[in-house]
This record gives sequence, C-alpha cells and structure tokens, in this order.
Amino acid sequence: MDATVADMQNGSGSDELVFFVNGKKVVERYADPEMTLLIYLRRKLGLTGTKLGCAEGGCGACTVMISRYEPNTQKLIHQAVNACLAPLCSLHLVAVVTVEGIGSVARKLHPVQERIAKAHGSQCGFCTPGIVMSMYALLRNKPTPRMSDVEEAFHGNLCRCTGYRPILEGYKTFTVEGGCCGGRGRENGCCMTSGKDFENGDTDDDRASSLFNPGEFVPLDPTQEVIFPPELMSLIKGQRLCSLRFHGERATWLQPNSLQEFLRLKWEHPNARVVVGNTEVGIEVKFKNMVYPVILAPAYIPELNTVTHTDEGIVFGAACTLSHMGAVLRQAVETLPPHKIEVFLAVLEQLRWFAGLQIRNVAAVGGNVMTASPISDLNPVFMAARCKLTLMDKDGARVVRMDEGFFTGYRKTIVRPQEVLVSIEIPHSRKNQFVSAFKQSPRREDDISTVTAAMSVTFAPGTDVVEELSLGYGGMAATTVLAKRTADRLLGRRWGEELLQEACSSLAGEMTLDPSAPGSMVTYRRTLTLSLFYKFYLTVLQKLRKQGVMVDEVRPDCLSATEIYHPQTPSSVQVYQAVPQGRSLDDTVGRPMMHLSALKQATGEAVYCDDVPLYENELYLALVTSSKAHANILSIDASAAEQMPGVACCVFAADIPGSNATGPVQYDETVLADKQVTCVGHIIGAVVADTQLHAQRAAKAVKIQYEELKPIVTIQEAIATQSFYQPIRTIQKGDLEAGFKQADHILEGEMHMGGQEHFYLETNVTLAVPRGEDGEMELFVSTQSASKSQSLVAKALGVPANRVVIRVKRMGGGFGGKESRTTILSTVVAVAANRLKRPVRCMLDRDEDMLITGGRHPFYGKYKVGFLSSGKVVALDVSYYSNTGNSMDLSLSVMERALFHMENSYSVANVRGRGFLCRTNLASNTAFRGFGGPQGMLVSENWVTDVAQSLGMPAEEVRRLNLYMEGDSTPYNQVLDRFTLDRCWDECLARSGYKERRASIELYNRQNRWTKRGLAIVPTKFGISFTAVFLNQAGALVHIYTDGSVLLTHGGTEMGQGLHTKMVQVASRVLGIPCSKIHISETSTNTVPNTSPTAASASSDLNGAAVQNACETLAQRLEPYRTKNPKGLWEDWVRAAYFDRVNLSANGFYKTPDLGYDFASNSGRVFNYYSYGVSCSEVEVDCLTGAHKNLSTTVVMDVGHSLNPAIDIGQVEGAFMQGLGLFTLEELHYSPRGVLLTRGPGSYKIPAFGDIPTHLTVSLLRDAPNDKAIFASKAVGEPPLFLAASIFFAIKDAISAARAESGLSGPFRLDSPASAERIRNACADQFTKLCPPAEPGTFTPWSVQV
Ligand SMILES: Cc1cc2nc3c(=O)[nH]c(=O)nc-3n(C[C@H](O)[C@H](O)[C@H](O)COP(=O)(O)OP(=O)(O)OC[C@H]3O[C@@H](n4cnc5c(N)ncnc54)[C@H](O)[C@@H]3O)c2cc1C
Ligand code: FES
Ligand code: FES
Repeated sequence: MDATVADMQNGSGSDELVFFVNGKKVVERYADPEMTLLIYLRRKLGLTGTKLGCAEGGCGACTVMISRYEPNTQKLIHQAVNACLAPLCSLHLVAVVTVEGIGSVARKLHPVQERIAKAHGSQCGFCTPGIVMSMYALLRNKPTPRMSDVEEAFHGNLCRCTGYRPILEGYKTFTVEGGCCGGRGRENGCCMTSGKDFENGDTDDDRASSLFNPGEFVPLDPTQEVIFPPELMSLIKGQRLCSLRFHGERATWLQPNSLQEFLRLKWEHPNARVVVGNTEVGIEVKFKNMVYPVILAPAYIPELNTVTHTDEGIVFGAACTLSHMGAVLRQAVETLPPHKIEVFLAVLEQLRWFAGLQIRNVAAVGGNVMTASPISDLNPVFMAARCKLTLMDKDGARVVRMDEGFFTGYRKTIVRPQEVLVSIEIPHSRKNQFVSAFKQSPRREDDISTVTAAMSVTFAPGTDVVEELSLGYGGMAATTVLAKRTADRLLGRRWGEELLQEACSSLAGEMTLDPSAPGSMVTYRRTLTLSLFYKFYLTVLQKLRKQGVMVDEVRPDCLSATEIYHPQTPSSVQVYQAVPQGRSLDDTVGRPMMHLSALKQATGEAVYCDDVPLYENELYLALVTSSKAHANILSIDASAAEQMPGVACCVFAADIPGSNATGPVQYDETVLADKQVTCVGHIIGAVVADTQLHAQRAAKAVKIQYEELKPIVTIQEAIATQSFYQPIRTIQKGDLEAGFKQADHILEGEMHMGGQEHFYLETNVTLAVPRGEDGEMELFVSTQSASKSQSLVAKALGVPANRVVIRVKRMGGGFGGKESRTTILSTVVAVAANRLKRPVRCMLDRDEDMLITGGRHPFYGKYKVGFLSSGKVVALDVSYYSNTGNSMDLSLSVMERALFHMENSYSVANVRGRGFLCRTNLASNTAFRGFGGPQGMLVSENWVTDVAQSLGMPAEEVRRLNLYMEGDSTPYNQVLDRFTLDRCWDECLARSGYKERRASIELYNRQNRWTKRGLAIVPTKFGISFTAVFLNQAGALVHIYTDGSVLLTHGGTEMGQGLHTKMVQVASRVLGIPCSKIHISETSTNTVPNTSPTAASASSDLNGAAVQNACETLAQRLEPYRTKNPKGLWEDWVRAAYFDRVNLSANGFYKTPDLGYDFASNSGRVFNYYSYGVSCSEVEVDCLTGAHKNLSTTVVMDVGHSLNPAIDIGQVEGAFMQGLGLFTLEELHYSPRGVLLTRGPGSYKIPAFGDIPTHLTVSLLRDAPNDKAIFASKAVGEPPLFLAASIFFAIKDAISAARAESGLSGPFRLDSPASAERIRNACADQFTKLCPPAEPGTFTPWSVQV
C-alpha cells in the first residue's frame, strides 16, 4: 500500500490548513479533500448567510469573495467564486469574505446590501446573499463600474422571484450610468431621473413612478472596505510556496510546490485527478458518484500560471483561469494589428458566454482542454486554430497540435496518464486568415452549448481562393470534431454562392447524428451546423470586400445575419397610483414599503429552515428512491448501508408507526413505497447518519431488486391506453351543434405545453425534533401548507394532530411547489426522528428535489373552433389532457382551473371543455403558480391566433372582437361585473405604441431576411378563490403586549411574496400604529390552526381580512382608553387597558361569502372576483439559430387599490419572468423509460438577468377599487404569469414572417416552450430542407414529449 493511502486510512499526516474568513483566522487540522467551502462555512463555522441552491455552480446562491495576495506582482486579487465548488483544501492562505463579513442590520449595512433591499430586489431572499457578494466583488475591483460590468458580474446568479429588474435598478446607482451622486441630487435634476419619467404624457399628480428613493442610500466609500488581514499578508510574505497534503476519509489532497514535484507525483499516481478550478471534478464527485483517492492540486505552480507572448502567439500556463486568459487576450486585441487577432477574438467571443463569472474566475484553460467535453466551447476554437499544447511527464516534454487526432473518444485524449498539460499556445492569425466562433445554447447566459463551432479560413493572398479551411464543431459527436471532408472539398475553391451550396450539402452529409443521440434536438443540431456556416460565409464575404477582394456583396437584407449579439442594458418604467395627499405617513397601505425582511435577507441574517443551528445530537437523512418508473419491489437489502461509517439506521415502510397511506386530497400515496414503485424518484426508504455525506453515501449502498413493469410516460401513451384518473370534468354551455352550424369556418388544432420545474432557490427541507413526551414533535418545514404537513405527519406517526407543531419562518420561494409535495419529505423525516428519538434534518439536493417533487403539469390541448368570417368565434369544443403523474395530488383542482380559464377573456356562446387527468409513471405533478390557468389560457390564445391566421386578419383584431364586455357571462355562468379588461387593453395599446410598433416591424421584416420581428398583445382574466370552497377561510391571532408591541400571527406563510409585510400594513392601519410596533415571527400550527395553504393568490385577501377582524376587535377594546385619553400614546392606552383587565389578545376569522359552484348543474359562483391584465411584447428572432431577443414588453395590470405597489409590481414582474421561462425557455427532458434527465441548473434553464425584456413597462391600472377584498385591493401572485404568453405569440408572429419568405402561410403548430429548437425548425428554409427529421417510430429518442 502506498504511503499516502496508508496515511489517509490512519488519519495522520495532514498539514494545517490556514485561511481567513471575514478577517478571522481559521486553522483546520483535518481538512477533508472532499469538503467544499460552502459546507465548511455553514456547518463548521455556522455562517449560514451563504446559501446552497444547487451545488453545481449554476445558481450563484453560494457566492463569496476570495482575496489572495500575489507576491510576484504584489497585487491583491478579489474574486467572486462559488463556495459550493471551491474545495476547502484549495484555500490555504487566502481570505474569504462572506455576506456576513461586509455588514449587518445590527452593526452597519454595506451599501450593496442596503440598495438591493431598498430597491425591492429581494423577495424570498434566498438568492440575495449571492447577488450581494457578486456585486461586492465587482465593486472591490471597480468602484464605479459600467452597467455592462454589472450585467457580466451576474452571469452566474439566478433569482426565481424578482424578475431581476429591481436588482439592476438598485445597483445601477453604483454605476457610471447610474449617476455621479447615486441619485441624491434627484430634486435638482439629477441624471437618474431620466428614463423614469411618465410615458405618453401621463403626468397626473397621483401617478408615481419611483418605487424607491436613491437619495436615502448611504454612499459607497471604498476606503471603508474590509482590509486584507495583515497577519495573512505576513504569513504569505514569510512563506515560500510549500507542498501540502490533507487526508480525508476517502481522499488525499496533494498540493505540490514545483513543477518537478507535480510531475513526480503524477508519475507515482497516474490515476490521480488533477484539480485546478474543480468546476468539472466537483460535479463528478457530487453528482456522478466518482471517488478520487488521490487529488493533485497544481494551481499555484508558477510554470502553470505563466503567460508568455511569443512571435507566434500567446502561451498560457494550463492553470491560468479563464478570467485571466480573457483579460490577457483583451489587452492583446487592443495592441496588436487587426490581422493578428482573429483567433483571439474568436476565443473572446466564446468566453463572453462561457459559464458565469464565478466559474470563469477559477476554471482553468487546461481544465477545459483536458476534460475533453464534446460541448466544450473553447476546444473547437483551439482545434480550428491548430493550437499547440505542451505536455510533460517526469522524463521530459512534447508538443502536440490540437488537431483531429487529439481527442480519441468521449472525454479521452492522447495525453498519457503520467503526463500533465503544462501550457497551450494560442496563435496569432495570419494575413488573409479569418476566424469566427459561435455558441448556440437554449439560454445565452451561463448555458451549455447545443452546438458550438469555430471556423477558420485562409485565402491565397489578395484572392478569394481558399487555401486552408478548418470547421470545428462541438455538440455533434462524442468529441469536438473537425468537418474534415467538407473542408478538404472546398480547398482551392472561390468564396461564393457555389461554395456555399456545396459546403451545405457536404456538411449535411458529414455532420450527421444518430436520431437517438444524447441531448436530442437532432434535426436542430444538424441544421445549426449549416446555419452557422452560412453566418461564417457571410461574415467572411464582408471581410474580404473590406480588404478589396472582389467577391459578391452581402445583400442588405442578409446583413443582420452576421451581427454578433450584444446585450442592451435594460430600461424600465413602473407606474402606479400614489396615495392621496395628506394621508398619514404611518398609514403605509398603498405605499411602496420595502419587504420587511429584505435587509436581513441582504445581510444573510434572515433564518431559513436549514439555517436553524444544529442540535447537539442531530442526525441527517438521505432518501432511497426508485430508479425505475414502474416496477414491483422484489427485495431491499440495506445490510451494506448499515455497516457504513456514521449510519444510525435505515427506515422503510415497516418502520412507520401510524399509517403509510398519505396524500393531500386522497390518500393514494405511500409515505414509503413497499410493494410497488410507480415513478423514478418514488421514495422507498431513508438512511439516517451523523452527517449528510455519510447518509448520502450509505443511501446509495442500499440494494433494491425490481421486477420491471411497462411504464406509461407520455400523455399520448396515456390516451392510447385510456389511463385516466376519474372524474373526467366537463363544462358545457349553449348549443355546440348549433354553434358549429352557424359558423362560416371550422378549424381544428392541437398543441402541447411542457411542464415546469418550480426551481425555488431553496429546495425542500425539514427538521424534525421529537419533544420526548406524549408523542410530541416539533417540525421546522419549508412549506406553504403548515396544517397539511401537521395532519399528514400526525397520520404517519399515529398520533393526534395536537402533538405535532409545524413551524415556518420563511421559505426561499414556493410557487406552489411547497403546497402539497413538501409532505413527502416531512413525513419521512418525522418517521425517522420518531424512531431514533433524535432530531433529524434533510434538505434535498437540487437533483433530488427536481426528481421527486413534481412540477407544473404538462398539458395537451385539442380543439375545434367555429367562427364567422368577421373573426367572431361562435363555437368551441376543447379537450385538455394533463400529465398528472403517479398520484392525484391536487391535479383535479388544477384541471378544473384550466377549464375555468378555457376561454381566457373571450366570449364564446357555445362551448364545451373537457379535462382528462392522465395517470402516468412520472413523479406526481402539482400546484404551480397559475394552477392550470396558464395551460387553459395558452390553448385558447392558440385557437384565437389560428382563427386570425386562417382569415388573414391581424390577431389583435380577432382578440378585441371576441373580448368579453361588462355583464357577459362565462361558460360556467358567472357574470362579469366591475369589468376592467377593456381599460387595461386600451391602456396597453396606448402605452406600448402598438400601431407604430406594428408598422415599424413590418418595415423591419421587409428589410431583413434572416432576422424577423414579431408583436403580440394578449389579455388575461384570472379568477380569484380556491375552487375548493372550504379552503376560502383564514384565521389570525394578535397579541398586544404591555409595552405596546404587537405580535401578529396569521394562517399564511411567507415565501417572498411579501405577505407578512402586507399583513403588518393591514394591522398597522386598523390599529392606527406604525408598522415598526408590529412583528410577525413565524407561521405555526399552534397559533392559528386549520389553515389553508398559502396559495391561489388569495392569501392577502383571506388572511388580510382575518387580521383586520382581529385588529378591529382589539381596536374596539382599546377605544374607551383612546377616548378617555385622546392626547395619550398607544402605549398609554395599552397599559391602561391591561390594568383594567382587558383581554389584549384576539383572534380573527374570515370566510369568503357566496361561493359554491356545482359542475352537474353548471351553476353557483366559482370566483369571488377576477384580476385582469394585458401585455404587449415585441421580439426579434434569429431565423438561422432560433435564438430570440425580448425587445419590449408593456404590462397593464389591474390589482385594485394596491396594498403595496412595490410588492405588487414585484409580483407582476416576477410572475411575468416565470411565465417567460415557461413559454420560451424551460424544458424538462424525460427518457422514454420515464427518467427525468434535466435535474439541475446546468441542464434546466430558468430565465437569467439577460432574459428581461430590454424595455419593460409595468403599469398598475388606476382608479380600479375592488369591493371584494381587503382595502379595495386585488390578488396579484398568479394572474400576471400568463401575460408572458405575449412573448410566445410575438415569437409565433415573427416565425410567420420567416415562413412567408419560404411561401408558407396560415396556421402552424408551435408547441410550448418556444425554444430555440422549435423556433428554428418552424422557420422552414433551404437549410432545414437539407436536414429532414428521422421517421418517427424508426428509432428510440433520447427524450420524449411527456
Ligand atoms: C456551472 C458551470 C458552467 C460551465 N459552463 C461551461 C461553458 O459554458 N462552456 C464550457 O466549455 N465549459 C463549461 N463548464 C465546464 C468547466 O467549467 C470547464 O471545462 C473548465 O474549464 C474546467 O476547468 P477546471 O479548472 O475547473 O477543471 P477541474 O475540474 O479542476 O479539472 C477538470 C479536468 O481537467 C484535468 N486537468 C486540469 N488541469 C490539468 C493539467 N494541467 N494537466 C492534466 N489534466 C488536467 C483534471 O484532471 C480534470 O479531469 C462549466 C462548468 C460549470 C460547473
Ligand atoms: S449553490 Fe453554488 S452555484 Fe448554486
Ligand atoms: S428573491 Fe431571488 S430567488 Fe427569491
């Protein structure tokens, strides 16, 4: 056995790891090579401000700043990095700054923390510390950045709540563009007031457009920043680079101090993993179960970090980070003659969209080459440019070219196990050489390529005759490849139309893909190889002409195909009605008050469930889940797992003391599967151990034998086998037959809409603490439904509900995903805690959360629509099929809401809608913001569009013609009163400048062949109430203490939507005291019982009325004391009442009146009222790649009298962006066997900062009081989500213009999301013709439409 492995096993021989965290020295004697900085911060140092969102570098929640001193350059380097990927052992002699280190509410806020909070850029707050630290690191390097720097700094950060706009607005105040005074000179015509003025001459006094006052902000003073620890500086200066070794349970970390030592170690340990940035290896260890017993860490070896400028190019040491390489290349580009920089520009183009900044700051160029990923973005450039690599082993060096022989197979190269990569030389380009690089991915920022390419052509001097040609592609094979055959064929040919034709047909033959290829999108990927070559062809034509070579001129209408995408800094306008003048400042209702937790969220002090400090004897739980979609369980063998280090016990169905039957509506699920599994991810058991790592490792060691059964995965399979849950719902009104007879035209159509992952930044988490007597248990759960959690935990434990307390302080987002599915985790954790009589915790990893908790239901809609030649729709027969999954969950209500929204906002006299719930072997789908409404409405907007397209009418005319009017009644016979949709429509048309836009789009489309613009205006009408009548109730409990402070509790939970803030505003108004006297601590089942889930957008209505009720009771009780002592203070009245023995505690209750719909008779009121809105969007589509830009969106939303315009506008924007993800970006891929293939931010893309419409206007409809809810307000959480369909239909409009170029007209099918793949395929042209899809049924696809 070698010495290192022996050391490792006896735990001796580790060096001391010394680093600093927030200025404090940390000395770790047992640094585990497999531990990340994030786990260390959270678990060992108790610094829970830094959050875990994904553990794969894809969300930025874990961002911290790392500072190092470089003795050679005597420079301090500050960089944002992902703590979830940073190995603890890599931190020797560095300083780490976390969100706690820069400021706190109690001490002093840092301006970066203050501004995001006050600009309303923090809703649930789970992403906020990461965003704060990205901004902080930027400002440490550049105290007055440009907006483009800010946007770049956020490439690696995601937020699921805010819609990003307020974050950018808040941080704009630090930038050059944001104003020299940070807005403080506002009154005197500060530059920041521009761009926020009212549009369209709307200058009424009561219209406000500023949601925060930058004048309040504390200025940034760079001299006040945390200093680099002087002790660390002297440690670094006093210490030469030393070798280090750290031994952990399974791995040893060896950090050599010289190249010689590195080579020797690699010789001794040829299978050792080299780690520099750990952005690849970290993922392998965490998600691919890889174990690397020996890790070599050469990051500090000088030869691997050197940059040398030679006559041929620039040589980069293999450990140079991508950020550093980018900086060096940018400088070279500025100083070298243009003909030398073509390759550099191509590398820079790839780096622009390479991961996020946090990754680029640590990932090494050598790591990218050596990972040998087929979708590497740099390798195609390196290959096309024939870069030289220097490889070394202990016996010497060799230089190899990166050509077609370098990659030998999937993730394999010619580099020998004993060799290391020392450097890469990126050559200057030569005269007459042109190079371009392209990356096409579903999302622009921080995404993995679908196809990535680099092309280089060299011409005979002064001619257009091809002398050399390299076409490098990624994403087209198991390795990066060169299209050698095509390139060879084109040698000696002239750069013209003929060459183009030949190149395309040759590439179509050479760049083929098996129809079953991993990653799917086969037709699209093949088409892209041609489309990207075409872009290169046009670009080179332009460059040749510039050099005076006589080649064809690029047609003006083709020029836009050559433009490189440059993001434009977004601008925005928010308009709302200000409160009447003279209203007391203490009455905050109607004012844009900041979310009450925002400051704590920005400093990392806000406590989320997993931030609750560890109990002394606490254990961690890991789930054992099914790997089969449908199977009988033959046996479970946990013997190996039980023997593993740290394991306390395994839990299976037999260990459940109460009932194993569970489920939110019907008990059709099991807490732990015993006989059969019905989806991949079905929970079978759990392993409980001392740490998360031990529990998870042991869970993987549980062996389960299955007898596989045939799964049903897709809606189409369910239809074919009639696999439906009952009942099948129908809503019918009028005479369908007569309606179709009356129609001039009848049209049939269908569409499929994909599901959606909630992607709350905080995954599901439960901490269960047995109380030791009478079966009592306290659970901290991240749930929207405290009472449901309570009753199902009690049921599983076999105790009455009064022994179980559920406590919810706040959630890091919910969006419906924590309404019912949280119980599948909390029941298991409770069972384990009960069995061991010890506290047990589990926070799901992102991949587990995505796998097992379900999401939005995929829907398939089929319709037949009858209409008059005028465009008036007279008959509609529509059927909806939802992919419900393996249990009912809330699916019936979701389908009912889809049916209640099947006509969206259109009056249809004769209508029938039917809803089928497909029973499949997917994880049960569940509530998601909108709850079936968006699915119902998308299909209706689709038939409206079809009607318009088949009549050749503008879609907006058909929409307006069919729009409801005041007094109309819906298919379920509810009369629409206080109807404001027409007002929203007119305001949206006016604010968006619809007519002018349409005209300019038509002109643009005439002038551009390969980019097309599209426009759509879409209404929404969203019914407010739970459709299950009994849920429309709420309670509140209010205590007044003798010091005058008020403790408020109500039935709703806080998930970022600002519910607690609004409730405090309500209580403040009713009690007549400032909000500062009122506190909400948490939601708990022992204060307000039998609560409805915080859902259906109705929580402010319901809980607000309950709070009002309780506060009115208290106000009445205090009234005599107020009257008696009118000049007294609140505290005086409270004290007087107390001494008079008045009860200063009251509960409140509310139930929505007059609800109750009956499907059988199609009568009774479904909804209390409706929220209305209209949105108009303009997009630009790149017809060659399918990429699109969101140019402009105008939203007009009726939220009644807004309780808090900042929160309401935040909800509108956040919902809109979630809808934008749903309709254009987010795609879940499932294998034909029902395995979810997209299980993290790497493969599942939610909208990022760059996806915001470039111009975004949100206007809250004025003068629209709602007499049905608290203080005339309206619900806002879900209704605006559907408005993002305006982007979907604007895309469809643009595609129609592209299809017209190929002579295609009339309705066409575009499923949702309108991904780049679907857009490209729909823009049928000469390139798509060359890449026809394989015949369905002749192959097994990698993924299926479920
Ligand atoms: C969130 C995220 C986004 C990403 N986005 C992109 C993207 O947009 N485009 C893209 O192409 N890639 C992307 N990647 C992949 C990854 O970041 C890159 O491949 C990166 O360059 C790897 O560098 P590293 O230093 O982190 O590698 P490490 O993980 O440290 O090592 C990677 C591999 O290289 C080997 N290696 C490293 N240095 C040497 C050496 N000197 N000699 C021999 N072997 C060596 C290691 O043994 C290991 O096998 C992304 C990764 C993440 C996590
Ligand atoms: S948790 Fe580190 S990036 Fe998501
Ligand atoms: S506030 Fe950004 S994820 Fe919730």
